[in-house]
Amino acid sequence: MANTHTNPLREGMRRRQAPDPCLLVIFGVGDLTQRKLLPALYRLAVENELNPNFSVIAIGRRPWSDLEFREFAKQSVQTSKESGEFVEGVWSGFEQGLHFVGGAFDEDAMYENLKGRLQTISSERGTAGNVMYYLATPPSSFEVISSQLGKFDLHKETEESWKRLVVEKPFGVNLETARELNHHMHEVWSEHQIYRIDHYLGKETVQNLLAIRFGNVIFEPLWNRQYVDHIQITAAEDLGMEGRGAYYEEASITRDMLQNHLMQLFTIVAMEAPSSFEANAIRDEKVKVLRATKPIPKERVPEVTVRGQYGPGTLHGEHVAGFREEKGVAPESVTPTYVAVKLEVDNWRWQGVPFFLRTAKRMPKKVTEIAVVFKTPPAHIFPGTPENNVLSFNIQPDEGMKLRFSSKTPGQDNRLRDVEMDFHYDSFGKLTGTAYGRLLLDAMLGDATLFPREDEVDLAWQLVTGILEAFGEPAPEFPNYDAGTWGPEAGDKLIGEGRRWRRL
Ligand code: BG6
Repeated sequence: MANTHTNPLREGMRRRQAPDPCLLVIFGVGDLTQRKLLPALYRLAVENELNPNFSVIAIGRRPWSDLEFREFAKQSVQTSKESGEFVEGVWSGFEQGLHFVGGAFDEDAMYENLKGRLQTISSERGTAGNVMYYLATPPSSFEVISSQLGKFDLHKETEESWKRLVVEKPFGVNLETARELNHHMHEVWSEHQIYRIDHYLGKETVQNLLAIRFGNVIFEPLWNRQYVDHIQITAAEDLGMEGRGAYYEEASITRDMLQNHLMQLFTIVAMEAPSSFEANAIRDEKVKVLRATKPIPKERVPEVTVRGQYGPGTLHGEHVAGFREEKGVAPESVTPTYVAVKLEVDNWRWQGVPFFLRTAKRMPKKVTEIAVVFKTPPAHIFPGTPENNVLSFNIQPDEGMKLRFSSKTPGQDNRLRDVEMDFHYDSFGKLTGTAYGRLLLDAMLGDATLFPREDEVDLAWQLVTGILEAFGEPAPEFPNYDAGTWGPEAGDKLIGEGRRWRRL
């Protein structure tokens, strides 16, 4: 008889329903709104994923009318690669829902004005009182916006309508400030209203990792200390500062990428199977991984981490400046732009299996990969040195996965050679949607599965705080890698004897 049992994971991953009508209030019309949010929203409109009454109010200091904001939004959508094809018909419908409120984020008058416009637009456009606030501002404005919304009762939910707050990273600058921010927000908002966004979780291939692991039977039996030698997670970028030097001086690679994006990838690879695809079931398992991860106090940092900063070099055949020459960066800056870390998870599944994470700016190319490197066979009966089998997940670009294993070469010799089985995401046709679009839609649907919970953020900060403290002193000898290379030599030593970073 056919098996009619439904797989809770598959059920959960299926798009459930159309989102409620809602008003999205975006604080800040800077880089993020321009390059990511507006294109992602427009693309959702093209894909017919938005509620027809969906509307936006953007807030910024500029003295714009709704029409001027619509013009800005149109340019953002037309110039961004993330928007996909520009369809005039879709745009003209979409732009009708775009509005602008000018003012400063701490100014009472601005919130009075916002309150009035929320009421008018909500009744004109039928958004039913549902409001999602998006903090696309520098983190220094998070607290004031959150408390001002509270002061004007703009956070209050009713039986019929919801209010949600989406907070961009970085969520705090260290453990202490992240806790303060959580505490501060909870004075106004309940945890169920807060959506901390990490756009890596919106990437199709990151979600596919969960599907591959828990929607199949063949991988999980091997996914443990008996078969896995180690795991590598690489997020390499060829970009430099792109005008964000001043922000980066504060953030460094540790806050910009390690504490959030890489930690998220790490927990998804290492977690146990959740009992369902429900938000808390998944988040509970991710939290357990972070709790089981060996702490990295300041004293252990030199043993388990490597930091680096790029100097001038050659990238894609052109000379590029070093970090210290970038705009907004101090000439003697000691801010790391490369970090590699060895993590160990103290549980039955992973005891003795190191996880190596590395991320950097100005590497030879943009590539994000997770590689599960298996042990070599216990007995060597073929000539040559046996290679490790590797199952690798290409998060971006060229989304897909590969299995590398040994095969006999044709002929009399019993020689082995590495071969690969390749799966490309293209085989589904073109990838649709954007990471931001997926997450915005989830937040509109009230699905917090792909948003890190308070305890996850706290535990991730606990792990990186010792690293941040130790990286301050003694002053490192920077720069220690050339732009356009794979980072400092010490990074190769970290991964240890007999192992090497994947050549990507
Ligand atoms: C952002 C960082 O969160 O992620 C950037 O602030 C980084 O510095 C970016 O370039 C990388 O994201 P993606 O999606 O391009 O890999």
